[in-house]
Amino acid sequence: MILNTKILLERAREGGYAVGAFNTVNLETTRAILDAAEELSSPVIIQITEKTMDYAGGRALFQLVSNLAEFYHRDIPVGIHLDHGKSFEIVEHAIDIGFPSVMYDGSRHTFADNVRTTRKVAEYAHERGVSVQGELGNVPYLAEVHGVVDWDDYMTDPDEAARYVEETGIDTLAVAIGNAHGFAAERPEPDYDRLKRIVEKVSVPLVLHGASDWEDGRAEKVSGIGIACFNVDTAIKLAFVGELTKVIGEGDKTDIRSVLEPAMHAVREAVKGKIRLYRSDGKAEVINNG
Ligand code: 13P
Ligand code: ZN
Repeated sequence: MILNTKILLERAREGGYAVGAFNTVNLETTRAILDAAEELSSPVIIQITEKTMDYAGGRALFQLVSNLAEFYHRDIPVGIHLDHGKSFEIVEHAIDIGFPSVMYDGSRHTFADNVRTTRKVAEYAHERGVSVQGELGNVPYLAEVHGVVDWDDYMTDPDEAARYVEETGIDTLAVAIGNAHGFAAERPEPDYDRLKRIVEKVSVPLVLHGASDWEDGRAEKVSGIGIACFNVDTAIKLAFVGELTKVIGEGDKTDIRSVLEPAMHAVREAVKGKIRLYRSDGKAEVINNG
């Protein structure tokens, strides 16, 4: 069953857990994510990037995710979300296709430009019943950062965050508190105090991008402070490609499923691990019962 992501995140915040938002690129990753959620009776968000829309066909992949959620997983609350839309046009396109939730990522622009476009996105989206995530601060991509990361350059300023949310009307906010996309060889301790100050000043649910390697107590801690959603992509790719690489020589060369099925299974197990970490297992029923 497809549900509004804003509602999913608000329910998570009230219930003291977080929802995983997992990136899909194809049928196999989508099925793996939904099967994991079904097995653990958990709400889940499936997200698609602009690049993946180019790869798979945005409309086709959106329909695939919607149909699987609607017809095979009716008891699981599923959000479908555009991840990191970098322009008004891509967000508009995703909404026209039917996405019920979008992110506009203007985090690399000036504060004023980010506010201006995010507000335009929020107005367009809200007229059509679509939820909007914005980002303030900047969650870096480790693959693009060379040399030492100066984390202070990326962090979300709590006062600016309050202004950004108020001036744009967004539904959820992605924050930078020492998180980054990709696996970091070395990570600083997250800035928990900064997160606490953001929580005090911002009323909308908060999202943590780059959560693939947040395993060692950090996820639990930030979820306790107020993170309602964790974005996970790299961990899914590693599970899929890692397993595929293992089985590729052993598979039946006349049957594509013989290599894709084990890869799908590996993603399912990885997603189950994250769902348990975020403590959203068993919460589907609570949401369904209102
Ligand atoms: P990772 O690839 O680090 O898991 O980040 C995922 C993400 O933030 C998607 O928006
Ligand atoms: Zn991200």
